[in-house]
Amino acid sequence: MEDLSPRPGDLDPIETASRDEISALQLTRLKTTLDHAYRNSPHYSAQFDKAGVHPGDLKTLSDLSKFPFTVKQDLRDTYPFGMFAVPRERIARIHASSGTTGKPTVVGYTRSDIEMWATCVARSIRAAGGRAGDICHVAYGYGLFTGGLGAHFGAEKLGCTVIPISGGMTERQVTLIQDFKPRIIMVTPSYMLSILDEFRRQGIDPRKSSLAVGIFGAEPWTNAMRAEIQQDFDMHAVDIYGLSEVIGPGVASECVETKDGLHVWEDHFYPEIIDPETGEVLPDGELGELVFTSLTKEALPIIRYRTRDLTRLLPGTARAMRRIEKITGRSDDMIILRGVNIFPTQVEEQLLKCAGLAPHFQIELVRAGRMDDMVVHVEAMPNASDAAARTASGRELAHHIKSVVGVSTKVVVGDPDSVERSAGKARRVVDNRPKG
Ligand code: DLL
Repeated sequence: MEDLSPRPGDLDPIETASRDEISALQLTRLKTTLDHAYRNSPHYSAQFDKAGVHPGDLKTLSDLSKFPFTVKQDLRDTYPFGMFAVPRERIARIHASSGTTGKPTVVGYTRSDIEMWATCVARSIRAAGGRAGDICHVAYGYGLFTGGLGAHFGAEKLGCTVIPISGGMTERQVTLIQDFKPRIIMVTPSYMLSILDEFRRQGIDPRKSSLAVGIFGAEPWTNAMRAEIQQDFDMHAVDIYGLSEVIGPGVASECVETKDGLHVWEDHFYPEIIDPETGEVLPDGELGELVFTSLTKEALPIIRYRTRDLTRLLPGTARAMRRIEKITGRSDDMIILRGVNIFPTQVEEQLLKCAGLAPHFQIELVRAGRMDDMVVHVEAMPNASDAAARTASGRELAHHIKSVVGVSTKVVVGDPDSVERSAGKARRVVDNRPKG
């Protein structure tokens, strides 16, 4: 793989600034944001008043812990536009998350918010090794989901030629990759695996494709999956993180030269890690729930938003900004089975050790009598699909899960293509336990 480290002059000055410079900028911007939220959003003024805090109480960055959290339910309660801090006429765009239950959560952007977002995504693509003039294939979904348009505006801003293909129609994805020869692909890691299968189905060697950089996010994925994709495509695979409530993709991103976690673009987003039980702020290095405060957003300033994502904050390496470790999972994706906490990423890691199994999987929760059980649905590799090979692969995976994760599971090894596919975020857990 090519060495894609940045060249002198490639980076924004803030990407190599000192910690003191970053903190000073954050403090100024945080004061402005709190003030803007308090003055222009009835939701925040009510919340701050209730907690007995005023924007003037923030003298240092750590004073932020005095301010109340914002949670997804706040966006639902103020549906659709109740948390906006600018008149509706100044909103240039709306996005929304589909959500599994109830109303979607709606977010809005002014023109300047969209510009800031594009800047963060352009920086992320550059961190991944992208350059002006590259062809960028965007297979994140376009629409209310922030993935497609977020990636698109960032790639345009960097100066790329953008292919806005969106998700789905996998055969055509491969045709256009072969014909247009993109250097960069932006897509969910699980959908990248479907694209990989399609390359093989068409008898095309993915290692010979034009792709040199993959920018994968919107769902948890492991370093084991990175190794697999890098090997199969002979390309760099880097992680991009974000959430609609904060902005969309481009809140944090990995650098191709280190691939050691995601640098938070701290000039625009202030991260904290809290203990999810007590809400107490934890020191850098400790594992907990990621919380974000926007520093430059106009339409929807977001104060101490609880992401539910679990990670830790680490010092900067390739950039001055701090990193977050690859996200283990969401606290609401965590399965508690007979007292053991399990994340789908742990199953992914074990699955990738089994040569006879494809990397696609789905976890089903069932109840037998009073006991909850976990069934892991996987697929045989086409070259290892006879009955004896399947039984051996299934046993191998069950053994790895038992010895590393610590629970006994049933593994069902199906035919190639039998596990549900998604052109966007994969649905990793299906709960078929009786309700109530
Ligand atoms: O998924 C934004 C996005 C689009 C990020 C494209 C990256 C690429 P939401 O639909 O609001 O926004 O979902 C946000 O997805 O809280 C995480 O749980 C999860 N997530 C996003 N990126 C990652 C990642 C977009 N790199 C939720 N690793 C977040 C793990 C991720 N989880």
